[in-house]
Amino acid sequence: MKLASESIQNNMSKQNDQIYANQQVSNPFKFDQKVAAVFPDMIKRSVPGYQNIIHNIQKLAGIYVTKNSVCYDLGCSLGAASLALSHGSQHSGVKIIAVDNSAAMIERCATNISGFKHQTPIELIQADIQHLTINNASMVVLNYTLQFIPQTLRRDVLANIYQGMNHGGLLLLSEKIIFSDETVNQLMIELHHQFKRENGYSELEISQKRNALETVLVPETQSSHLQRLKDIGFSHVSGYQQQLNFASFIAIK
Ligand SMILES: C[S@@+](CC[C@H](N)C(=O)[O-])C[C@H]1O[C@@H](n2cnc3c(N)ncnc32)[C@H](O)[C@@H]1O
Repeated sequence: MKLASESIQNNMSKQNDQIYANQQVSNPFKFDQKVAAVFPDMIKRSVPGYQNIIHNIQKLAGIYVTKNSVCYDLGCSLGAASLALSHGSQHSGVKIIAVDNSAAMIERCATNISGFKHQTPIELIQADIQHLTINNASMVVLNYTLQFIPQTLRRDVLANIYQGMNHGGLLLLSEKIIFSDETVNQLMIELHHQFKRENGYSELEISQKRNALETVLVPETQSSHLQRLKDIGFSHVSGYQQQLNFASFIAIK
């Protein structure tokens, strides 16, 4: 079985991310045209384990997506997880709903998705996931999206997802995380910067991107994530994979 992540990375990573290569005035990070154009390269060089998560979404879809149900990819960007859901789901009557509030992402996502053969239909919606109705969901993916929602509103977003999921359905949540032990926290930040250096980012690019993300991407600890998912009512909650300060969690209703 061909994994979606391989073909996506091969076909989408054409443009190099040089957004922060030159000295510039620091503006908050936005998912605009410039970012959408280089996004596959940016995420591959910035997020350790990203490709593995996309592989695993395909595999989890094979287990959790049920007949005549809906899968949601919330904060879909260019549709890598949507395609993985589509490739992985094994049943008839399944629909994937891919949602992003960035017009630039949705536009490019439509082009990308049309370039890949996929058996399960993918519907694209430009919307804020804070105001979305979720229904009949057997699998929901929040792959590095919740971290961009204001912290005080994250519980409501997750509770809304929970109420729209079917019993036995799976939520996959990936987030950049922080550590309550400050020594470990600083070590993970440094190792992540090392990962970015090894992937060709300069010190200037690393520091300018960090400043741009500071007020936009607010990470939480692993235990906050797990506790909130349990409090909302998920029956089975666990860490799933972690590379440095990037972690994925599964929550089964
Ligand atoms: C780091 S990217 C997600 C990557 C993507 N899930 C993947 O696996 O390739 C975060 C995405 O979430 C979207 N986003 C952020 N806040 C959102 C919101 N409130 N509603 C919908 N989309 C949002 C951004 O536009 C961006 O495309």
